[in-house]
Amino acid sequence: MTSTTASHAADLVAALLFILSLAGLSQHRTSRAGVVYGIAGMALALIATIVVAAQSISAGAVALILVATAVGAAIGLWRARRVEMTQMPELIAVLHSFVGLAAVLVGWNSYLEVESHGDAQTRIGADLLGIHHAEVFIGIFIGAVTFTGSIVAFLKLSARIKSRPLVLPGKNALNIGALVAFVALTVWFTISPSLPLMIAVTALALALGWHLVASIGGGDMPVVVSMLNSYSGWAAAAAGFLLNNNLLIVTGALVGSSGAYLSYIMCKAMNRSFLSVIAGGFGIEAPSGGQEEQGEHREVRAAEAAEMLAQARSVIITPGYGMAVAQAQHPVAELTRRLRERGVEVRFGVHPVAGRLPGHMNVLLAEAKVPYDIVLEMDEINDDFADTSVVLVIGANDTVNPAATDDPSSPIAGMPVLRVWESEQVIVFKRSMASGYAGVQNPLFFRENSAMLFGDAKQSVEAILHTLGSDGHHGESSTGRQTSLAGR
Ligand code: TAP
Repeated sequence: MTSTTASHAADLVAALLFILSLAGLSQHRTSRAGVVYGIAGMALALIATIVVAAQSISAGAVALILVATAVGAAIGLWRARRVEMTQMPELIAVLHSFVGLAAVLVGWNSYLEVESHGDAQTRIGADLLGIHHAEVFIGIFIGAVTFTGSIVAFLKLSARIKSRPLVLPGKNALNIGALVAFVALTVWFTISPSLPLMIAVTALALALGWHLVASIGGGDMPVVVSMLNSYSGWAAAAAGFLLNNNLLIVTGALVGSSGAYLSYIMCKAMNRSFLSVIAGGFGIEAPSGGQEEQGEHREVRAAEAAEMLAQARSVIITPGYGMAVAQAQHPVAELTRRLRERGVEVRFGVHPVAGRLPGHMNVLLAEAKVPYDIVLEMDEINDDFADTSVVLVIGANDTVNPAATDDPSSPIAGMPVLRVWESEQVIVFKRSMASGYAGVQNPLFFRENSAMLFGDAKQSVEAILHTLGSDGHHGESSTGRQTSLAGR
C-alpha cells in the first residue's frame, strides 16, 4: 500500500469516526462514546496529515509541526481542565474564532504561495486557476466573518461587553451592502487577482462578522453560537479545498451542516426566525427600554420559604443559570429528597435554553442524582403550573419572564417561557433585582404571588434545609398540605 493510499484510508476511517461521534453525542447515554470517537478520529487525522507532510518537507519543518501540535495540545488540556461548565459557550466561541482565523491564514497563504508566483498557471492549470481565485476569496470571507463574529460572541457571553443588540442606523442595508460588495470583489478578483483586493475582502469580512453578531441580542446568543459553529465548519471546508485535503472538506461539511441544523432547531424552540438570526437580527427592531423596575417587590426569608414548602401540596423547581453559578444543585437535590419524603410532589421544569448551553441544567441535576423521571421539559410541564402550590425559581430569569408572552415590544417577545406565575406562590432565588442574560427587566418579580429570596442560591437553599430540620420534620405536621398561601 502506498503512503497516499494509506492516507486516503486513514481519512476515510477518521471521517467515519467523526460521523459516529456526532451520532453518539446526540444522546446523553452515548455521549461519552461520542467524545471517544471524536478524539480517535482527530488523532488519526493528525497522524495521517503529519506522516504525509513529512514526505515532502524538511525534517526541521516536521519538527516545527510536532512542537506546534504539542504546544496546542498542552494549552487545550490546560483550558479544558480549568473551564467551568458555565464558561463552556465562551470557550466554544473562542475555539470557533481559531477555526475562522486559520481559514483566513490558509487563504492568504494560498494567495501568496500560489497566485502571486508567475508560474501559477502551470502549477494549478489554466482551467482551474479561476476556481482557485474564488476559493481563496470565499475561504477568507467565511473565515474572517467567523473570526470576528466569534470574538464578539465570546465578549458578550463572558459579559465583557453588553449583551444588548447594537443598532446602527441602516444596519440591514449595511449587512446587505457588505454581501453585495463581497460578490463584486470576488468577480473582480477572479478576473484580475491583486493584493489590494485581498486586503479589501479581509477588512470587509472582519467588519461584517463583528457587526452581524453585535446586532444580535443576548437572548439569541445560544443560536448565534451554534450558527458560528456552522460558519466555522464551512470555513474549514473552504480551507480543505485550498489545501486539497478531503478530510477537512468532509469534516467541515459535517460541522457546517450539523451546526446549521442545530441553529434551526433552537430557533424553532425559541420561536425565532432562523433567517433573521443568521442575518444579524434582520427585521428585529431596537428593543424598547425593558430595564426599569415595574412596581414593588416583596421579600421573604429562608425560614418563611421553608414554612411555605412545608405546607405545600406540590412544588415545581425551575432552575437557571444562577443555580449553576452558585453550584446549588446538591442542596437543591437534598431539598427535593426531603420534601418528597414528606409526601410533597416535587418536579423540575427545564427550559430548553436555561443556563448557558443546551442540556446545562439536565447535566447539573443528573450530577446531583435528581431522579430523571421528575425532571420534565418545558412543554411537558407548562400546563401544570396552574395546579401547583409553590414554584421555586432558582437562579432563572429570562426563561420565566412573562414579558415574553405579554409584551410584544419586549426584546424576548414570542420566546416560549415557563409559565411559573400561574402557580399559587412563586419564590425567586437570586442575589439582587438585576436583569438576566437578555438584559430585560422581569415583571414576574412584581407580581402579587411572587416573593424574592435574596442571596446566593446555594446558601438560601441550605438555609431552608436548615430550617426544615435534618430529620425532615418541620412545624406541627409533616403531612399537612397547604391550602392558602400569603400573597395570593
Ligand atoms: P438568566 O436569565 O441568565 O438569569 C440568571 C439569574 O441568575 C440572574 O438574573 C442572576 O441574578 C441569578 N444569579 C446569578 N448568580 C447567582 C447566584 N450565585 N445565586 C442566585 N442567583 C444567581 O438565566 P436563565 O433563566 O437560565 O436564562 C438563560 C439565558 O441565557 C437566556 O437568555 C438564554 O437565551 C441565554 N443563553 C442560553 C444558552 C443556552 S443554550 N442555554 C446559551 C447562551 C445564552 P442576580 O445577579 O440578581 O443574582
